[in-house]
Amino acid sequence: MVIAKEISQVKQNVREWKKQGLSIGLVPTMGYLHEGHASLIKKAREENDRVIVSDFVNPIQFGPKEDLATYPRDFEADCKLCESIGADLIFNPEPCEMYEDDFHSYVGVNTLSEGLCGKSRPIHFNGVCTVVTKLFNITEADRAYFGQKDAQQLAIVRRMVRDLNYNIQIVGCPIVREEDGLAKSSRNTYLTPEERKKATILHKALEEGERMVNEGETDANKIVETVRNIIESEPLAKVDYVEIVDWNELQKVEKIDGPILMAVAVYIGKVRLIDNFIVDNS
Ligand code: PAJ
Repeated sequence: MVIAKEISQVKQNVREWKKQGLSIGLVPTMGYLHEGHASLIKKAREENDRVIVSDFVNPIQFGPKEDLATYPRDFEADCKLCESIGADLIFNPEPCEMYEDDFHSYVGVNTLSEGLCGKSRPIHFNGVCTVVTKLFNITEADRAYFGQKDAQQLAIVRRMVRDLNYNIQIVGCPIVREEDGLAKSSRNTYLTPEERKKATILHKALEEGERMVNEGETDANKIVETVRNIIESEPLAKVDYVEIVDWNELQKVEKIDGPILMAVAVYIGKVRLIDNFIVDNS
């Protein structure tokens, strides 16, 4: 497996692979890899001749009061995991390799970036779209793999690719969970043992919401209230948002009559966790 720190190194490998007519799958990550990331890398391995994993804590998607400085990192362990799955190249640039001092160009998707996590993280998705665009251009990948764990991110990247005619296929992958239902996340390591136990309330509440949808409940507010009440029954939990939106435009719905995303963001102590489910019977 090639470990590339520089963009030119990635491009050189890509040039060789393209010359041989090989397909390329890209898995963008911020490192500290867990089984959620691994599931994306495995899927990319199955579907492409060559697999690139990017491992880069992207500074421009963090707000000034967010956890950029403390975001967990373990590049050695990441390399081992990628190698064990059979990735061909891991790209781990320094921030200055990606953003020169006079960097001025940003990519953004309006409307879809404004609700849900965009409300409390106003610059986040522009940072994501910008780095993802750079990674698409650097790797010239045929397919890129994104988890449903970050459903809003997946919807935004899909829309960006469609709107701006990128030559890449976006592959969405299911949420990988711990045995007790908590969605795997690099940020779970911030939780104290007590908070970790209480964090299962997100999944428990969402399961009830999903059950209501599947049993035919169409009143979105009723489901939102039920899910919110379950989460708030846990004293350590503080709701940022609980919402049902349509799975195309990510706009709030009152009545469920098409594909929907139910998404929650909840503070457990100081740690902000997200989770969701999608019901798409279309
Ligand atoms: P990161 O949080 O490292 O996640 C990288 C990818 O792994 C994302 O597509 C995310 O949805 C997926 N993922 C994370 N946890 C998962 C889980 N439990 N099950 C399935 N997939 C999971 O998302 C980012 O990084 C960044 O915003 C990035 C796209 C790399 C741009 O910087």
